[in-house]
Amino acid sequence: MGKVSGISKILHLETVDSTNLEARRQAMEGAEDGLLILCDNQTAGRGRLGRRWSSTEAAIAMSLLLRPEIDADRVSMVTIIAAMAVRDAIFKVTGLETDIKWPNDIKYHDRKLAGILSESVFRGKEFYTVLGIGINVNNEAFPDEIKEIASSLRIEAGRSFDKDELTEAVWESFFGYYGILLRDKDLRSLTEAYNRSCITEGGINEYGELIMADGSLKRSGEV
Ligand code: BTN
Repeated sequence: MGKVSGISKILHLETVDSTNLEARRQAMEGAEDGLLILCDNQTAGRGRLGRRWSSTEAAIAMSLLLRPEIDADRVSMVTIIAAMAVRDAIFKVTGLETDIKWPNDIKYHDRKLAGILSESVFRGKEFYTVLGIGINVNNEAFPDEIKEIASSLRIEAGRSFDKDELTEAVWESFFGYYGILLRDKDLRSLTEAYNRSCITEGGINEYGELIMADGSLKRSGEV
């Protein structure tokens, strides 16, 4: 992977329990903003809402450590732009036009290709965020319990892809959006682009909250 502005250091591990957990361990040791953890195999990958996320060498599993200068209670905006970046990267490398299911599932023909788990740790006024991204790249098959709902870029496009190229494309796009987020402190310049790719009814407002049919707002969870 080439140099991406915004990434301060890359740690590539052969096997790790979870790249999110590793990034948190590194953060506790004082690791800098922009540390990227990459791995070949994840033995205890974590999904949203306490689920597991299995991940082999065929897939991308990575986590970025960020210390964002935004309101701590608006940190979910980071996962919104991560979903946009994963979608952009998939399009750039494979040509597949994926959908975003709010807040941050990447789907193709209703099958999940990628997931994002961001976890924030607060200490007083300070906090850091670990942005974990899993992308099913060259997987040829999935375990029975998810085979009806998951897919990979290889299955959908009929050929395999270079994980490094895709990884670089994700972070190139992410840091473009992240600069805009840090400048505006909200997503006002990005909501339109997100909503164009978002298949969840209602779309988001400038804070990444889902606008429900009755006008109420949903900040996290599932719909
Ligand atoms: C989801 O449930 O949709 C989120 C899945 C997130 C998986 C990624 S893989 C890299 C990072 N490390 C983890 O343990 N989880 C995230």
